[in-house]
Amino acid sequence: MHHASPERDAWSSRIGFVLAAAGSAIGLGNIWRFPYVTGQNGGAAFVVLYIAFVLLIGTPVMVAEIAVGRHARLNPVGAFRKIAPKSLWYMVGFLGVATGIGILSYYSVIAGWTFGYFIKTVSGTFSSSITSDQSVIVFTNFVSNPIQAIFFLFVFIGLTTLVVMGGVSSGIERWVKILMPILFALLLILTIRSVTLNGAVKGLEFYLKPDFTKIHGSTVAMALGQALFSLSLGMGAMITYGSYISKQDNLVISAAWVCFFDTMIAIVAGFLIFPALFAMGLDPAGGPGLVFVVLPTMFADMPLGAFFGAGFFLLLTVAALTSTISLLEVTVAYMVDEKKWHRKSAALFMASLAFILGIPSALSFGGVDWLSKIPGIGLGFLDLMNISLGNYSLTIGAFLISVFVGYKWGIHAVRSEIEEYGNIFFFRKIWTFLIRFICPVAIFAIFVYIVVTKNYF
Ligand code: TRP
Repeated sequence: MHHASPERDAWSSRIGFVLAAAGSAIGLGNIWRFPYVTGQNGGAAFVVLYIAFVLLIGTPVMVAEIAVGRHARLNPVGAFRKIAPKSLWYMVGFLGVATGIGILSYYSVIAGWTFGYFIKTVSGTFSSSITSDQSVIVFTNFVSNPIQAIFFLFVFIGLTTLVVMGGVSSGIERWVKILMPILFALLLILTIRSVTLNGAVKGLEFYLKPDFTKIHGSTVAMALGQALFSLSLGMGAMITYGSYISKQDNLVISAAWVCFFDTMIAIVAGFLIFPALFAMGLDPAGGPGLVFVVLPTMFADMPLGAFFGAGFFLLLTVAALTSTISLLEVTVAYMVDEKKWHRKSAALFMASLAFILGIPSALSFGGVDWLSKIPGIGLGFLDLMNISLGNYSLTIGAFLISVFVGYKWGIHAVRSEIEEYGNIFFFRKIWTFLIRFICPVAIFAIFVYIVVTKNYF
């Protein structure tokens, strides 16, 4: 085992890192966000763009972030400062830490719903068959109750805090190893149910038959943002997790596995949601409530539905937890490395910030009117956070990281970081081309386009 310094925690193996990083990547982004953003952006054509962005931008940035982290063995702010001292690059780290707190705040609201839905399913809310209209009412009542929304937000941030206080290797690694395969198995079973429903074909068509006339500037920007969000890129989460990897591991292989697992789960989640959604005659552009409305209706009608439903929401809660852990961990690593705080106080402090910032998101589904539809913007507070932070801030972050790694730190430095212990840098030439040219240029072009067309949301 390799430790950089006696106090710095580390993953116990390559598998340990891959699972923890996959745990970070796989979460609500795959099962909640991917289907609803795909639904709002026209279906199959969006999926094609999404996959292209995972390959051309996500995967190279994944390699870049992990390499930066492992090289510096520090949080994002410290890592930029160490590699490029006396420059302003550390600001990219700050942008990441701030974005992390922001994403954690609203992500935990949705994660709280998942946990709430687990309890609802166990307590029999969906045991007799319900129509999709009834399901919409159950959902609306649930999320518009301010006390409940804030309570579940609190519970979820509390859980995250407890794990992060315990450190990286002891808790996260062990659990992810057991729970992720179960989640995947359950996802497959439910997907089979969904695609065999009457009327599923329409959903498959929406999901698989691209109609490229549906692509606008914002569609492209959303697909890129979704790829980055789902892979946990653009804010230094992978810099932080990379900082705990052993120097002996081939980080290119690890990065590829993480991207592969994450994309698989998102694609399967689409096969779960869209057939069921069309079979029930719901609107694919229904927004953040999509999975919470579609799935209970399906559970209520299937054999052992309560069992599958409860299992599904419980595992989704766990998947969300392994993601919020990584969001909080970035900010905690920053406080611990740079400000010399104790891990426990840092976790409590940052989690409290995220909780307070999460309250307006928790109240933005009917709890408080003006937060549910912000005047002049027309979006709810959570939606706005989700697009500005979960989409654009990550996109800006990924742009800056690719410029940093491609030009400032440099290709040769990355190469020696990867090859130092005799590992092979697979696809080195392609990676070099992508990180130096495709990533920055494509992201820049997308930004110019949406600014010119004023097509932000
Ligand atoms: N990728 C996670 C998901 O899909 C969310 C997440 C965790 C994240 N850490 C992140 C997103 C860091 C962006 C950056 O659910």
